[in-house]
Amino acid sequence: MDSPTPHLISRRDALIVSAATAAAVSSTAPVAAAPAAASASAVPLMKVSLNVNGQAHALELDTRTTLLDALREHLHLSGTKKGCDHGQCGACTVIADGRRINSCLTLAVMHEGGQITTIEGLGTPQNMHPLQAAFVKHDGYQCGYCTPGQICSAVAVLDEVKRGVPSHVTADLTARPILSAEELRERMSGNICRCGAYSNIVDAITEVAGSRT
Ligand code: FES
Ligand code: FES
Repeated sequence: MDSPTPHLISRRDALIVSAATAAAVSSTAPVAAAPAAASASAVPLMKVSLNVNGQAHALELDTRTTLLDALREHLHLSGTKKGCDHGQCGACTVIADGRRINSCLTLAVMHEGGQITTIEGLGTPQNMHPLQAAFVKHDGYQCGYCTPGQICSAVAVLDEVKRGVPSHVTADLTARPILSAEELRERMSGNICRCGAYSNIVDAITEVAGSRT
């Protein structure tokens, strides 16, 4: 007479056993607290006041919002571009309290009460900033994606030179920097142009610098 062998337990039997085991465990285990549901109230919000291009804005932002996202997504100033979002390309350059910064690398709440200037605040198509006009004149762009950051950066560079702020290649730290091509390229090295319009960008900035310094 054939006797049942242990290894011939069917897959169906195995499933029944495992289901029964799970049910037994769940009936004896204490009821675990449900994970906290992600809700809007869990988002850390904070009020922040920014003056952007001369206009006051009162915002309530997730504290993790970068200045770049606050400008683009909350104030709809899309002139400032998001390239790498990692501080490596300079496309997001704006001027904050007189200094150029990568707006992707700073939180909006860190600029409470700050004065921010974006490309929209420098000029308009009808009334361009001298650097905007020079970029047009010298073909300082191709696709234009890096251009707002390049121009904001260039505006701040001219101001840095005017204030005598040295750069890595400034030979005499006690004298006012001379805006040579080397000096200019060094100061603008944080602004990447994937179209390679560098020589025209240098021409544009040099022309404006020549008329100002
Ligand atoms: S987007 Fe900020 S440095 Fe590239
Ligand atoms: S003009 Fe295209 S990336 Fe600079």
